[in-house]
Amino acid sequence: MKNFRADFPIFSHNQDLVFFDSTATSQKPKMVIDGISNFLSQDYSNIHRGMYDIAQNSEKLYKQSKEITAKVLNANSWKEVIYTFNSTYALNLLAQTLRKNNKLQKGDTVLVSIVEHHANVVPWLILKEEIWIHVEYIDVDENYNLDIKDFEKKYNESVKVISCTHVSNVTGQVFDLTEIGKRKREDTIFVVDASQSVPHMKVDVQEIGCDFLFFTGHKVFANSGIWVLWGREPLLLEMECAFSWGGAISEVCLDGYKSCGLPDKYEPGTPNITGAVSLLKAFEYIESIWGYETIEKVEEELVEYFLEKAKGYPQMKIIGSTEVKNRVSVFGFIIEWYHSHDVAEILAEENIAVRSGKHCAHPLFKTRGFGHSVRASLYIYNTKEEVDKFFEIIGKIK
Ligand SMILES: Cc1ncc(COP(=O)(O)O)c(C=O)c1O
Repeated sequence: MKNFRADFPIFSHNQDLVFFDSTATSQKPKMVIDGISNFLSQDYSNIHRGMYDIAQNSEKLYKQSKEITAKVLNANSWKEVIYTFNSTYALNLLAQTLRKNNKLQKGDTVLVSIVEHHANVVPWLILKEEIWIHVEYIDVDENYNLDIKDFEKKYNESVKVISCTHVSNVTGQVFDLTEIGKRKREDTIFVVDASQSVPHMKVDVQEIGCDFLFFTGHKVFANSGIWVLWGREPLLLEMECAFSWGGAISEVCLDGYKSCGLPDKYEPGTPNITGAVSLLKAFEYIESIWGYETIEKVEEELVEYFLEKAKGYPQMKIIGSTEVKNRVSVFGFIIEWYHSHDVAEILAEENIAVRSGKHCAHPLFKTRGFGHSVRASLYIYNTKEEVDKFFEIIGKIK
């Protein structure tokens, strides 16, 4: 298997760095860095309504970015792809738009899972405060897998939105969301947080059977500040966006306005054009390494190796499943008697980057009775030698 580390310039500047923090953000391949630099030096302009060459080039690249994103997700059209700036903006845009269009009203329920990142909890809790919806949590089983029986129990007539993560950012567990897609009623909107699946695996919106899906570019090799919100065209067309201003509007009168068509009506203001180009280059990079199959294969080997090694370190308790299947290379763990920040600091002294704390998943930590955890998250540029170095240090923490 090719060593992908050489594709990432950060490692030539930080040769000893063991970067096990890709769940927080991924490192950038040269192809993305060069792509951004070339765009800014050769083609940069604002998009929409520019008749000159570089404006046309920027417009073309922006559209190409949406086309490749649509292809990656198996969406029906690039017009279903909306770009926003961050998760707060993306989810609040969706939650407030559902509210504006009466898809969520007083007394309705939003079902989320107990492992959600706050990005997929707080926007619904804001609606709970504002219009008195209910927010209910689907539990996970002893392997931290989605508990479908609990889902069935809680999926009553009041549920109008199911919003669930595809992969947990704490445990790395992959949820089989097709089970929800199969069971959902016509009157329920099914939203997927794919922030931790799109970086690691092929994600197919048709196969899942969802209505909306979102993820962020910076965790999948692109720059920060570019978030993707995909939605089904009929739904997007039917609804009015909760926010609007320049770029999303075709006409403004003294007492009203008319929205543009898709996807512009959901993208008010100047978008993150450079971010969109970086996402185009990120997906081109994945194509250049023979696609998601390669990422999945490299990760499977790393997962197998990591879990096998972990067996020799009983002081390290992995949160969640220790099976190779149905997981990505994200490992949450605790070391008894040690605070997670102390473990992260000991590792950092050896130039091993991990993350510690509650990983913006407070509901999970509150209901499972542990205060915090360390998270080691590996990606395509990591190696078995780095896993060895990691465990060498873990072995010294007793
Ligand atoms: C599952 C999940 N959803 C949402 C987010 C929020 O992403 P961002 O930090 O880019 O806003 C994260 C980030 O860690 C995540 O892991």
